[in-house]
Amino acid sequence: MLKKRKKAGDFVESSRKRIEKDIEYIGNITATPGNGCTRFSYTEEDRKVRDYLLNIFKDLDLDVSIDAVGNIRAKYKGEEELPSIMIGSHIDTVKNGGKFDGVVGVITALETLRVIKEKNIKIKRPIELIIFAEEEGSNFGVTMLGSKYLIGYLKKEDLKEIKNDQEVSAYDMIKNFDLRIEEEDQKIISKSEVECMIETHVEQGGILDTENIPVGIVDAIAGMKTCKVLIKGTSNHAGSTPMDLRQDPMTGAAEIILGIEKLAKEEALDTTVGTVGKIFSKPNSTNVIPEQIEFYIDTRDVKPDGLDFMIKEIKKLIEKVCKKRKLESEFKVIGKNESVVLSEEIKGTIEKVAKEKDYKYKKINSGAVHDAAMLAEILDVGMIFVPSIKGKSHCPQELTKYEDIKQGCDLLIDSVVELCNK
Ligand code: HGY
Ligand code: MN
Ligand code: MN
Repeated sequence: MLKKRKKAGDFVESSRKRIEKDIEYIGNITATPGNGCTRFSYTEEDRKVRDYLLNIFKDLDLDVSIDAVGNIRAKYKGEEELPSIMIGSHIDTVKNGGKFDGVVGVITALETLRVIKEKNIKIKRPIELIIFAEEEGSNFGVTMLGSKYLIGYLKKEDLKEIKNDQEVSAYDMIKNFDLRIEEEDQKIISKSEVECMIETHVEQGGILDTENIPVGIVDAIAGMKTCKVLIKGTSNHAGSTPMDLRQDPMTGAAEIILGIEKLAKEEALDTTVGTVGKIFSKPNSTNVIPEQIEFYIDTRDVKPDGLDFMIKEIKKLIEKVCKKRKLESEFKVIGKNESVVLSEEIKGTIEKVAKEKDYKYKKINSGAVHDAAMLAEILDVGMIFVPSIKGKSHCPQELTKYEDIKQGCDLLIDSVVELCNK
């Protein structure tokens, strides 16, 4: 006999008002008021949002733990002691970013726990809300530091080598944030404690908004490599040095950066992207031919071949330009994650619930990386996307309609309840 189809009345509803209140409140905790959200991990802004959420977790009587690098886990008990269903995202941002990236995943996860508690919905498995630390990599250029530590991809020793622009190590910054990095042993997440995970996130692309579809079910998450490049030349007087006697690292870097754009646009796959968004000039004076240019490359592709092609060709490009211009170079991959196809089982559950709720939805890939991609190395993982207006993200103009966030949250709630009682 076909399982009775749920009717609209059978579904629980999240509170759009509560979701909006939390996201707006957290959005105002920023180091750059009036110019987007700037909330790096391990800063006073981070602490304020952590305290705000930890108080709510306390009122909900959740069982809270914070690991050595600051990942927060808040558990809502199920009827049986079974591996939990994990939901959540991050609260840190890029510089002058938006207020929805990451926070939508944390607040929809919180709202899920609130609704299940208020409606006293029976769940066999426990649910664990997670807030990952340092997802954006804003401090050190290494994205998803918290989730990479949680799956054992980064060890404590690695954190001593990872440094910010002021040469402060991740290890010291975490220690100075009063986290127990010295005392706590690294605990790697396992299937014995967590069954699977769903992360809800803004799309950070324009597909859902353009096609007017309120929900995305993520198929695959792009792989990514972050590379640090140094181009070294000969510093000299900008006025008295003839043009044909220069070894100018700035013009060398410019030729390389344009070459990266050409590789991604014209020679790699149509899913490949390449960006240089961070650059330093030494000594950075208007009347001095620079001694050294330091810049960072972010290249991604949901297809591994595209990413491999980019790294191989970028290395050749740097070598060719430096030889021609008599410059020296250094090249280092400082962060990476493989592209990952998400769990058919979790995608299937989300899709089944979306159909039951008569939602319009679309299966899409994610050009942005997410902690879910790291957890997918150990767990079955799925992602729910909600539209980004005009595809804007990582900027103050980042915007998602609260009606869409509510709809994504309602889908999350029913998907989680379904997984809890499987
Ligand atoms: O860069 C990213 O894709 C993510 O927002 N950290
Ligand atoms: Mn994010
Ligand atoms: Mn982001």
